[in-house]
Amino acid sequence: MNKFNLKEKTLIIIKPDALQRNLIGEIVGRFERKGLKIIGMKMIKLSDLLLNKHYAHHKDKFFFTGLKNFMKSSPVVIMVLEGLEAVSVTRLIVGPTSGRKADAGSIRGDLCISTQTNIVHASDSVSTARQEIKRFFKSVELFNYKKMDFEFVYGEEERE
Ligand code: CMP
Repeated sequence: MNKFNLKEKTLIIIKPDALQRNLIGEIVGRFERKGLKIIGMKMIKLSDLLLNKHYAHHKDKFFFTGLKNFMKSSPVVIMVLEGLEAVSVTRLIVGPTSGRKADAGSIRGDLCISTQTNIVHASDSVSTARQEIKRFFKSVELFNYKKMDFEFVYGEEERE
């Protein structure tokens, strides 16, 4: 078994502010250019039920109601990305929660100034990613396919 797990997965939600600001292509492009593989992608409208589950750990926070209203304000695009250390790589590209604290070069650092309307959600650990992917995608909506750039995205030892 390969010691490099090239199939680690993470969940991304492209939030309503990104849709309204015409940033879907920009965001998807950044993940693609990094070398992450898109194995699932769709547009959905988030329900109260889904949001209560997804943000259960924030239910007592002052921003919970506002966050839910924002996340329901338009559809979102959700995607599953796959790659070596996909969870931590993605978090690095996305940047910390507040757009004001995120470094230039990161998605939030370049594209937002808010803590709530912060463009994307990215799973915060491998185990959270597993739960979140199950919450939003059926197994038939995730694809296992060969990517032609694979041998240039990864080095030989990483692919073995
Ligand atoms: P996300 O990565 O989706 O995880 C939880 C979300 O809650 C976060 O992005 C923000 O959209 C929102 N959030 C976190 N902290 C705050 C805050 N202090 N004020 C408003 N919204 C917040």
